Amino acid sequence: MDFELRDKVKEYVYDIDTYIPGEMVEDYIKLASNENNYGPSPRVVETLREYADKVNIYPYREGEVREAVAEYCGLSRENIAAGNGSDELIELVLKVFKGPVLYFNPTFGEYRICSQILGERFYSINLEQDFSFPLDRYLGKAKEANILFLCSPNNPTGTAISLGDIKKILELGKPTVVDEAYFEFCGETSAPLLREYDNLIILRTFSKAFALGGLRAGYAISSPEVVELLYKVRQPFSVNSFAQVAALAALDDVAFMERNVEKIKEDREMLYKKLGGRFRVYESDANFVLLDSAPMTSQELFKRLYEKRIIVRKLGGFPGFEGDYTRITVGTSEENKKLIKALDGIIQ
Ligand SMILES: Cc1ncc(COP(=O)(O)O)c(C=O)c1O
Repeated sequence: MDFELRDKVKEYVYDIDTYIPGEMVEDYIKLASNENNYGPSPRVVETLREYADKVNIYPYREGEVREAVAEYCGLSRENIAAGNGSDELIELVLKVFKGPVLYFNPTFGEYRICSQILGERFYSINLEQDFSFPLDRYLGKAKEANILFLCSPNNPTGTAISLGDIKKILELGKPTVVDEAYFEFCGETSAPLLREYDNLIILRTFSKAFALGGLRAGYAISSPEVVELLYKVRQPFSVNSFAQVAALAALDDVAFMERNVEKIKEDREMLYKKLGGRFRVYESDANFVLLDSAPMTSQELFKRLYEKRIIVRKLGGFPGFEGDYTRITVGTSEENKKLIKALDGIIQ
């Protein structure tokens, strides 16, 4: 049958920029997706094995997960909504609240993609040329928007936004998302502001510091009213049983995560110094570093490292900014040594 697809599709769907995940090749060192290459706690692995023969039962440990997350955050269960990664929570926020959306550039691509998916209008403003946060310009543009996205520490620049700036934005009284996917590598959080601001929605994930990226578990921290609304628009079983039990096991062994985060933070400083001798590198509060690869192109750097079986994230140019950018995840100590050695062979 002759089917005129174009006539049947919502017009805006053709404009959506499909998310492109970081490349993965078995036996290569992957430093492209800000994962934690030390992997999850052995307690997580053991729990997943034990759970393998229980997957006939629908997920039922949501309450326990919310309770355990609340304890980790020093809040109560009513403040926590679990999600299928923080990606899902971004979408849920956009399902609950009216647009338009405001975010800044460069930042995590999902704010824009999810706005497009939901047919929501969106605006963006550029960070300053040194990637610092342009508070006044953001406040100015925020007048035209209703959902405000902030990423702190920001992916891909690694920079955090000060609590003072976040407070000034919350004062506008608009739903404000602070994406803290990299919180554990930075240590600073907006969570204390929840006492004063019901419009604050913090997003966190088990994908980064807790090393559960493959399982898809994240959570939102907000007022009980907002949390209830997020649950209204969420699929009932979006966090699967493996993700639930893994999150619980990970929270039962926070010390394991903290030890690895410490190693990653030490190596982040080491990489910053070593890479800084060769490229323009940005100081990061997350588990990655951003660099401008000049005089090499990001494509050339990617290719040369790929030949040495190391995969980094080639970002290229950001509209409105000079430079050709590459983001490199801080791997395990052994991987980071190999990265430095590989770079020594590339740039003399
Ligand atoms: C800033 C930011 N937010 C959210 C996510 C998505 O995390 P999750 O795996 O929880 O969906 C990422 C992943 O890279 C990220 O960088």
